[in-house]
Amino acid sequence: MTGQTTPIIRMRDAGYYSANTIGARHVIDSAIPLVERAVCEIALPAGAFTVADYGAADGGTSLGLHRALVAAVRARDAGRQVAITYTDLPHNDFSTLFRQVQGGLGDVPGVFAFASGTSFYSRIFPSLSLQLGFSGTAMHWLSRLPGKLANAVHPVLGTDAERAPFAAQAAADWQTILLHRAAELAPGGRLVLANFCQDEAGYYLGYTGQRNMHANFAKHWGELRDAGEITVAEFTATNFQQYYKSVAEFRAPFDDPDSPVRRAGLALLHCETRITPCPYAAGFAVERDAAAFAAAYVPTLRSWSENMFFGALDPARPAAERHALVDQFYTAYQADVAAAPDGHAMDYVHCFMLIGKAG
Ligand SMILES: C[S@@+](CC[C@H](N)C(=O)[O-])C[C@H]1O[C@@H](n2cnc3c(N)ncnc32)[C@H](O)[C@@H]1O
Repeated sequence: MTGQTTPIIRMRDAGYYSANTIGARHVIDSAIPLVERAVCEIALPAGAFTVADYGAADGGTSLGLHRALVAAVRARDAGRQVAITYTDLPHNDFSTLFRQVQGGLGDVPGVFAFASGTSFYSRIFPSLSLQLGFSGTAMHWLSRLPGKLANAVHPVLGTDAERAPFAAQAAADWQTILLHRAAELAPGGRLVLANFCQDEAGYYLGYTGQRNMHANFAKHWGELRDAGEITVAEFTATNFQQYYKSVAEFRAPFDDPDSPVRRAGLALLHCETRITPCPYAAGFAVERDAAAFAAAYVPTLRSWSENMFFGALDPARPAAERHALVDQFYTAYQADVAAAPDGHAMDYVHCFMLIGKAG
């Protein structure tokens, strides 16, 4: 078998992402008050009010937020035009995005939707051109994979030595993101970011004190390795190119008055962590139907993780074999949930930030 490639970052296509990520929509909806505050604080420009949605995936989860944002702008100026640019990586399913946005915002007059396939690790907009930037659940993806994990698939469960290069990469990436956004924002502009984090209690996506989703990923993938279904090299090549920053790590460039981010004019106006409960586990708590819970819950994990497991498999394997292995993996996880459902939950753990650019 040949060596592994780095999996590309990609959600599942054709609306599967937003159809199976109700929780991500709840997270975005809970950022609406911060967006409304931001709209009130921003000086209205001469022309259209310009908005960016960084890492928008198929656009379905942020439709409610953008409708609320347009309403907040219109409360200040009833005739104000709004231009929204959805951004994501170039191989994102932009066709589905355009369909979702036409369906969800197409009936709102004076709203103009665009898309950009430029990474948020690059400049996306002309200088000083943006009033408001929003991002939901996207900036935990790193610009590169800085290391490997021997027995985990996510750095949050790596050893201290394995985590160190991920932490360093995340700090550098955070500064890169902020400096590009500082250049794009108009004076007095605002960023509203809802980013995955590791909170003050040590909780993170899929671990809020009970079963640990990332440990379960490693367990079921490890069982395929131990059974000889996948190779040790394939297991070791399975690493989420992600990092969940702590509040201190998010705050660091703002707390240092001499940091490049502060010198670029950015200030942290609001910062708090919040847990958004897993809607599937909440439904199970009422219904107590373990099989139905497992059948609904595992697809939400699959919507954002599948590409990483699939991409770590040796490309020399026929595609059908790779698909079958990934199916086997999620089927085992689903059977595990169905057999012992209590404690499984993909609660979302976020750091919500409002960042302002000097006027
Ligand atoms: C979990 S989805 C979140 C989608 C949506 N914002 C939400 O909250 O439901 C993360 C998105 O971030 C995108 N992403 C990851 N790295 C990115 C980058 N460097 N630049 C732009 N988008 C990126 C992924 O392609 C994916 O569509």
